[in-house]
Parts: sequence; C-alpha cells; structure tokens
Amino acid sequence: MDIASIIKSRVKETYDLHRQYVNPQFVRVLEVIGFNRNYTSAKGARLTDENGREVLDFLAGFGVFSIGRNHPLVAQVLRDMMETGPPSMVQMDVGTVSGLLAEALARIAPGDLEAVFFTNSGSEGVEGALKFARQATGKSKVVYCDRAFHGLTLGALSVNGNEEFRGRNEPLLPGCIPVPFNDLDALESALSGRDVAAFIVEPIQGKGVFIPDDDYLPGVRRLCDEYGALLIADEVQTGLGRTGRMFALDHWDVVPDLLVVSKALSGGYIPLGAIITRREIHSKVFDSMDRCFAHSNTFGQNDLAMAAGLATLHVLEQENLIERSARMGEYLMNGLKNLAGRYELLHEIRGKGLMIGIQFGAPKSFTLKTGWKLLHKMNEELFCQMITIPLLEKHNILTQVAGHGLDTVKILPPLIIDNADADCFLEAMDKVLKDAHKFPGSAWTTVKNLGLRTAKTA
Ligand SMILES: Cc1ncc(COP(=O)(O)O)c(C=O)c1O
Repeated sequence: MDIASIIKSRVKETYDLHRQYVNPQFVRVLEVIGFNRNYTSAKGARLTDENGREVLDFLAGFGVFSIGRNHPLVAQVLRDMMETGPPSMVQMDVGTVSGLLAEALARIAPGDLEAVFFTNSGSEGVEGALKFARQATGKSKVVYCDRAFHGLTLGALSVNGNEEFRGRNEPLLPGCIPVPFNDLDALESALSGRDVAAFIVEPIQGKGVFIPDDDYLPGVRRLCDEYGALLIADEVQTGLGRTGRMFALDHWDVVPDLLVVSKALSGGYIPLGAIITRREIHSKVFDSMDRCFAHSNTFGQNDLAMAAGLATLHVLEQENLIERSARMGEYLMNGLKNLAGRYELLHEIRGKGLMIGIQFGAPKSFTLKTGWKLLHKMNEELFCQMITIPLLEKHNILTQVAGHGLDTVKILPPLIIDNADADCFLEAMDKVLKDAHKFPGSAWTTVKNLGLRTAKTA
C-alpha cells in the first residue's frame, strides 16, 4: 500500500470526505472563515499547504507540538522501535519502555510525585484523577473553577466551567461545585464542609489565558491541606515547558497531589497522557492484588507512545526548550506590549512562557467605538476573526481565538521558535492591527459580511 500516493491522489477530496463522513458543521466553519486549506506537510514551526504556501504555526495543535512538528529525533526513535518489533501491550506483562517513561516522569514531577498511570488523552487523565481522588479520600464532591476546561468526556465535563460545552448533557456528575477562579474565599467556603475529595484547577486557565494572583495557588494548597481535599493540577496544556517552567505550578513552588499531563508528551505523534501522583494515593486505589486493575485501559502503555514520550522528554532537555520558552515568551510579550501602547483596541497582553493571551477591548475614539458596538451587537464572537483571518490569509500565520465569547486571541507557538519567527508574527500583527484601526474599512466590512453569512446559514 503506497499511502503517500493515495493521499496525493485524493487530497482534493478532503473537505468532501469530511462533509460526508466526519463533521460537516466544522467543514462549514472552516469554509466561512477561509481556513479550509489542505496542509500536505509540516516541519518544526511550519506547515505547507497543497499550493506550496508555508504557514507559521502559532497554534501548535492547541499545544501538542511543543517540540515542533515531525521532530526528526522522535521519528528516528519510532522507526527504531518499529524495526525491533516491540512486544507492545502483551497486557499480562509489564513493559520496559513504560517503566522507563514512568521513571522519567517521576524525575521531572515536583515533590514526591512518583506513581504514574498512563492515559490516551487529557480528558482520560482528568477522569482518572477524579476517580483516584474519590477513592483515596472516600469522599465524592469535587470543586472546580468557572471557565475551566478539563475535557469533554462526561466526568471531565462535570468539572468544565463552560456552559456551551455542558449544555444538553445534564444531569452531569452530582456533587461538582463551581467556584470563581482566583478567589480563595469562595474556595474556602466550598471546602469548609470537609466533604470534598478534590479541587481541580488549571494553574493558568487555557480558555482566555487567565493567570491567577501570586498568592492564589499557594493559598489553594494551604486550603486543600486544611480541609482534607486533594489538589488536582490539570497541566494538560500548561505542562512540559509551555509556560517557561517544566510545570506551570513551578512558578509558585506548589506541589499538587495529582498532576495530569498530555498534549506535548509524545511530540504530537501518538496520543499519550499521564497522571502522576504520590505512591500513598496510588496505593489507596490499587490496594490489593484483587484491585490491581481498579483503573485501567487498553492502549495506555503501548510501546510506541512510550518511546515517543521518552524521546520528547529527551528533546525538551537537549534543546533547552523550557528556557527557550521563557525567553521567547518574554520577547513576544514585550513586542506585543509595545503594540498595545500604539493600538487602542489592544487592551492587555497576559501570559507566561509561550502561552499568551492577546486581549482586545472597547476603544476610546468615537468612530472605532461605533464599529466595536455594531460588531458585538451582531455577534459576540466576531471581533477576533478580524485578527485571526487576515493573519492567516495575508500573512500565513495560524492562530485562534481563546474561547467562546471572548475578545482574546491565544498564541501557543512551538517552543522551538526563534527571534525571526517572533518578529514575523509581530510585524504581521502590526499590519493587521493597523487595518483594524481604520473604521469604516475593509477589515470591518470583511467580518461584518462574515457575521451576516454565518447568521444566514446557521
Ligand atoms: C487543560 C486541559 N485539560 C484537558 C484537556 C482535554 O484533553 P484531550 O482533548 O486530550 O482530551 C484539554 C484539551 O484542550 C486541556 O486544555
């Protein structure tokens, strides 16, 4: 079977295939915003489409491709593994490569987290962490944050603070209590009954890139200890160098009881995630030989994913990507803050490392304010398209909005970007912002028409 020829001969049918067999609504969205390209190859921080156009990838598969796409070292390790004919998933054994990856994760995890459970996704990690917390504490309630995103399976959705995802799925898990993010008083009152198994939190919220005050996460740790709740850190997006430290919690020297990672862990090659916890918690779940499968899955420890994980951690270290994430993040944030001083629609730049939220807001000048109000009256989701669409269409840079109903663009570039990539993005942003500050003007007309078209075809 010649897969390369098959792909080449049928690439033009891609969107029809998806319209017919996969998700036609998503195809419509991509067509309406002009993101319906056929990408045919990728390397590092760049994608190439069928017309040979190179796109600078500032989305990185929502944070998956931290070491860049198709990293040659991970590819070589995977090829080598396949050459050896790995004895993957015998199931009635334990594998060498999974043992090695568990050891490597225990080494990078903070504090005394050393017991590892492998998963196939971030959501599955959250599901497992919730189960571990309930079993280890004998309690069932879970506290979570407004606007939190922990995945979309039913357990993870029960602690998801976004109505657009929860809707039509109720009733969800009972005993899940929302609190505002960055509010220690609200957390204390939710925990004070001492009947809560866990508080689950993203140290930096992915939807919107919200960063807590410096006393929040240390305070969270203290309150969890005081009221006997476990702290689950969801570092699916923020982990493995994304924020300029190995884990985002490291910025505040906080050690959780359960740490969930995924996304970047396998270099983007194979679905992979992990729950890393203290041995004491793990032993409360797996507390007898009868219960050695108290929580399990089929593909979790497959040899190829394990090898990709080992190779990815090796690349992170060898290429100093965590330090680079911190350095390049600062460079980009400074450049963006500079632009914020010149463009009134640009209100705030917030982020750590290479997880950056670009926050827009109502302008002061009269004419621009008219455009802002008109557009938001028409559709709360439209404004950021005035940034992301021209970034791709005119400047070949891929970005996305930070969540529903937010005037925030989020960038999650691969950690391998250099100053030239950052300058390319900043120059493009400068031009896009200049256009967006002309009202009336073509940028506003384009998104207005987009809004009209979406309303008509909804
Ligand atoms: C913080 C966080 N947790 C969990 C998830 C769910 O991960 P997955 O899509 O791999 O199930 C995501 C995905 O974006 C995430 O950002």
